[in-house]
Amino acid sequence: MSNEYSMEDLVSLCKRRGFIFPASEIYGGINGFWDYGPMGTELKNNLRDAWWHDMVHCPPMGPDGEPLSIVGIDSSIIQNPKVWEASGHVGGFNDPMVDCRESKARYRADHLFCLGVKGDTSGQIYAYIENDDDSLASAQKKLEKYVKRTLSSEEIDTCALTELSVEELAITVGPDTKTVGTLTEPRQFSLMFDTTVGATGGDENKAYLRPETAQGIFLNFMNVVDTMRVKVPFGIAQIGKAFRNEVTPRNFIFRSREFEQMELEWFCHEDDAQQWYEFWCNYRKEWWQKMGLTTENLQMRQHDSDELAHYAKEGCGTFDIEYKFPFTAPGYGELEGVAHRGNYDLSRHTEFSGKKINYFDQQKNERYTPHVIEPSAGLSRGTLALLCEAYTPDDRPSKVFMKFNPRIAPIKAAIFPLVNKNGMPEIATKLHEEIRKKHVVQYDAKQSIGKRYARMDEAGTPYCFVIDGDTLEDNTITVRDRDTASQERINIDQAVAYLDDKLSSA
Ligand code: GAP
Repeated sequence: MSNEYSMEDLVSLCKRRGFIFPASEIYGGINGFWDYGPMGTELKNNLRDAWWHDMVHCPPMGPDGEPLSIVGIDSSIIQNPKVWEASGHVGGFNDPMVDCRESKARYRADHLFCLGVKGDTSGQIYAYIENDDDSLASAQKKLEKYVKRTLSSEEIDTCALTELSVEELAITVGPDTKTVGTLTEPRQFSLMFDTTVGATGGDENKAYLRPETAQGIFLNFMNVVDTMRVKVPFGIAQIGKAFRNEVTPRNFIFRSREFEQMELEWFCHEDDAQQWYEFWCNYRKEWWQKMGLTTENLQMRQHDSDELAHYAKEGCGTFDIEYKFPFTAPGYGELEGVAHRGNYDLSRHTEFSGKKINYFDQQKNERYTPHVIEPSAGLSRGTLALLCEAYTPDDRPSKVFMKFNPRIAPIKAAIFPLVNKNGMPEIATKLHEEIRKKHVVQYDAKQSIGKRYARMDEAGTPYCFVIDGDTLEDNTITVRDRDTASQERINIDQAVAYLDDKLSSA
């Protein structure tokens, strides 16, 4: 059975099984916004809780073998608008965009690439969308039609659209037109969502929805130092919503306008920053593997110098942890960025607020502004990666099962009476009541056992407990494993311990 599947297959399962729905669906939806259904909410919360546990409650040991010190906060989504001037988001947080005057499509300038004939500077240039095979094939077809012959790959010149001169842009054909010169020059668009605070309105009451959770952490640095007896190096973590008015939200929940982030700001001395940067790059990649993403689908990529965010420290940079999503394959898409932010943020907030934000090391008698290493992960994007990784086409009746790591599976076990009579429902109900005190379990007595297995396979439930005729005789039940569909019998009294054991070793 082929392991290939399309994004349509995954989106359809997410809808069918209650993972993710389009927001405002009954009104035709709203582009870039999504609602999580009961299964999606459990899955996302499990990923969120695993991050919080592994980063805040039980962080890894540091390079010196000592446990790290990390505390959590939950800051406001709306802050004083000066915060975003200081952070560089107002004024600097833009994407250069290209419009097609004919098709009215809008593209991120850095996502468009071009084909032309090598050495032919007067001929036409054909734009295509990065990682979009159909658009690339169509650009090559249009180019070959224009030169009236088939071209070998050696004859074709490729370059980024941003490298074209104004004259070259004027002879470029857009990805979805046949007409020359319909693409505009790249223009900047602000990604900040604004709103008005208070009833009177007006520009003086304008505020912004946060585009990242990180700034709430920097704003509270001194509050945490003054109240929590923390010593540098230490970290402050936050999970929460972020909002970006993305010009081209796309690929399901991959790029949306409202999403969640899981961010750690790790404060350290400048001299130790490089060591911590390497530590966090390694740990964060391992963590995603622990969540069930396989090594062949993950890669680390150093940002090119022209990609660096405005806060990234010169000469140091950012590593992206990337995942091979079905819509980027064989390429990869960003899942998490680990950035060396230097002391940019704390210094800017000192400058803009006029308040001292720094740290005094009593042992070394040294006052300084700590440097920051920031592992910043997408919770929504991480949930999508887990869904993509779990989707497993198979010959079984459901044709697919979701192979979630049991630790993050939305439902841990299902309990079925084989038939809805002969005392089986009573035993199953009792077992359900016992297990649900500790784990998320579902009771299902409707339809055939095969259909019930199929429903649980699509929901990604790792274990199904079946109460049958033998249970009445010898107190044993069947446990059916989601991945292998194999069955074993255990004593009903061992069911809770069995599940505890499987989940703790996941
Ligand atoms: N504080 C640093 C920061 O926000 P970022 O690379 O812009 O860095 C971090 O965002 C992570 O947030 C990304 O790696 C991605 O997982 C997630 N993210 C960013 N924009 C997103 C969007 N429009 N939709 C979903 N997730 C997004």
